[in-house]
Amino acid sequence: MSVHTSVMLREVVDFFTDLPEGCLLVDATTGEGGHSEALLRARPDLRLECWDVDRDIQARARERLAGALDRIRFRSGWFDELFDEMEEEPGGILFDLGISMFHFRASGRGFSFRSGEPLDMRLSRQGPTAADLVNTLPEQELEDLIRTYGEERMAQRIARELIHHRPITTADQLALIIAQAVPRGYERGRIHPATRTFQALRIAVNDELGRLERALDKGFTRLNRGGKMAVITFHSLEDRIVKTRFKEWSRSCICPPEKARCECGGKPLASLAGRLMPTPEECESNPPSRSAILRLLVKLRHRRTDA
Ligand SMILES: C[S@@+](CC[C@H](N)C(=O)[O-])C[C@H]1O[C@@H](n2cnc3c(N)ncnc32)[C@H](O)[C@@H]1O
Repeated sequence: MSVHTSVMLREVVDFFTDLPEGCLLVDATTGEGGHSEALLRARPDLRLECWDVDRDIQARARERLAGALDRIRFRSGWFDELFDEMEEEPGGILFDLGISMFHFRASGRGFSFRSGEPLDMRLSRQGPTAADLVNTLPEQELEDLIRTYGEERMAQRIARELIHHRPITTADQLALIIAQAVPRGYERGRIHPATRTFQALRIAVNDELGRLERALDKGFTRLNRGGKMAVITFHSLEDRIVKTRFKEWSRSCICPPEKARCECGGKPLASLAGRLMPTPEECESNPPSRSAILRLLVKLRHRRTDA
């Protein structure tokens, strides 16, 4: 039984429905397999590579998609690394970024500040945990991390309090310290005071932004001509990266600004195919979708530098 509700499912399926016969699509963030399931159903000839770095959630996708195993290849790993191992050019790539409701509600890894879980936040279960960062980083680095990845204006206060309360080992302990560090009525009660710090730690622990940049570039390089890319983001840091890359690829002239005349031939590598937000009905029925932005792109040609 899945706990996550897929975001902008119809929009994603509509975008990919006209892929060529027998096409290969990479679901780079399969999660519990909601988007994959709908795509496989909509296109009985489609083949899928289903990726996720989290083996626990991937086990759930394997169960859910058991009826279509002849059309799926599951791969476990970070998406920016798995593109290096691809043998075939895909005709479609889907990124549905961040974490799933499964991580908040059922992973037991401290993604949710309402729980009494260990402060872990690692998707891969390898490398330093969120507790390692909170308990070992110098105050200034912790403040910078919270400000940069959480876009948290109270970063200085929060970092100071965290240092003061070390060691911090559980998610609810962290949330409580942050709630006590910020002024009353913070954010007018719109979000829990710890939301931005939790986001910052999760991004840092999993190198989410670095991996996204690398995966977009590698994915775009791998994508075949006419191939389609769809990316769903959930916060402005991610969306800025996607928007910048998409803009870059769809620009006709890519000469450096100091060139007086265009020398690149002026042909864009891609065309933008839309920027969508969830409908008010979806926002109401699935509140975590509220901050989502879906950006769509069609690749027109390979870069000259691409193999
Ligand atoms: C929002 S969920 C996907 C939900 C899925 N589309 C659905 O409809 O059920 C994002 C998934 O991507 C995985 N993920 C996040 N960053 C990743 C990365 N860099 N490499 C591989 N998987 C990643 C997470 O483990 C999570 O399961």
